[in-house]
Amino acid sequence: MQKLLSSLGPVAAVIGAQWGDEGKGKVTDILAEHYDIIARACGGANAGHTIVINGTKHVFHLLPSGCLHEKKDIVLGAGMVLHLPTLLEEIETLKESGIDIVNRLYISPESHILFDFHKEIDGALEELRSREKGQGIGTTKRGIGPAYMDKAERVGIRMEMLGKNIEGELKERAKRVLQCYGVTIDTDKEMANMSAAHAVLKGRVIDTIEHMHSGLSNGKTILIEGAQATLLDIDHGTYPYVTSSSTTIAGALQGLGLPPNALTSCIGVAKAYCTRVGSGPFLTEMDEEHADRIRTKGGEFGATTGRPRRCGWLHIPDLKRTAQINGFTHWNITKLDVLDTESEVSVGIDSKSDAEAIYDAIPGWMEPTVGMTSFADLPENAQKYIYFLEQKTGVPAALIGTGQGREEMIIKS
Ligand code: IMP
Repeated sequence: MQKLLSSLGPVAAVIGAQWGDEGKGKVTDILAEHYDIIARACGGANAGHTIVINGTKHVFHLLPSGCLHEKKDIVLGAGMVLHLPTLLEEIETLKESGIDIVNRLYISPESHILFDFHKEIDGALEELRSREKGQGIGTTKRGIGPAYMDKAERVGIRMEMLGKNIEGELKERAKRVLQCYGVTIDTDKEMANMSAAHAVLKGRVIDTIEHMHSGLSNGKTILIEGAQATLLDIDHGTYPYVTSSSTTIAGALQGLGLPPNALTSCIGVAKAYCTRVGSGPFLTEMDEEHADRIRTKGGEFGATTGRPRRCGWLHIPDLKRTAQINGFTHWNITKLDVLDTESEVSVGIDSKSDAEAIYDAIPGWMEPTVGMTSFADLPENAQKYIYFLEQKTGVPAALIGTGQGREEMIIKS
């Protein structure tokens, strides 16, 4: 671990290389112990990670996975869109488990408030797309797109307004929202949500840029927890089947107000196979027989929506591209054990006219790897699979996940 930490340096990021759900939470959780500030930069409650507290599973959407570690500062950056009742619920869940995070929570005044009406607009727009085009984007219906639409239109309401009277502004907005989307804003409810949030969060909306930069000057370290993933990025993803934020390392630095030269490492997280929820292209999607097996074995159901995830093989050109975009210094390959019972592991290595993948077949290992913590103990073919990924992408696989548990991880020097 010490070797890994010195190669990561004081400002490390964890960024998804596929379509989300790669298991970024686990590596963040492992590393969080060794960092002072855990920061989330972009997105909102579309993210979902399962956290087990005292044996009970909880799904968190806004707070980063690292929040369980006591004494760590938690930063929610300017690039985020915050649904306040969800945030309060997560804070309360932690409190009930004896973890009080309010006093170490730092929220950017520049982050945007995501109101209930944004969620309703999201639902209305999805319905419209399905009716008009036969299919929607398959959003999480958490209001993400509409909140970023307001931000881009420059009519968003930001966290700096917490505790201020925005009733008039909301009432004005209600007229237009009803006219454009047929959605009624319940201004009383939105105001009540604001007051409840103000009661808990007053004093926690501070200049997060100053907080992080003065921390860095005083020798503190920062772990950036990316949300969603590179192939869902608004610019570089499979547009229009993407989310509405910048999910790359560049987006994370922008969302936090950290300069590129502060970053010392960037871990790309990719499953040993690939999944996607929602609509959109998926060149290496598996046939149903394989997908069923992987879905069941890997528990591939959305943490936010419960939707079954589409399953596929790795696609090397995507991994190379995400490594280029993000400058990955390390891979964390997750869920290797899910492939334990595959007699052959396919890997997309190229494509024919962008429509059909060309595969290489790697012999499976057909032996359990669950819980392994040493690379040398892995079956030979599993090692070969990892070497193949390293060689094809030019990025070392520093961490390899072999199970759900925190300790089920190989740290490979
Ligand atoms: P939105 O972010 O809710 O607008 O959804 C846009 C697309 O991104 C949909 O295909 C979602 O399923 C996908 N998406 C958004 N957040 C996540 C995530 O955290 N994991 C996986 N897919 C996500």
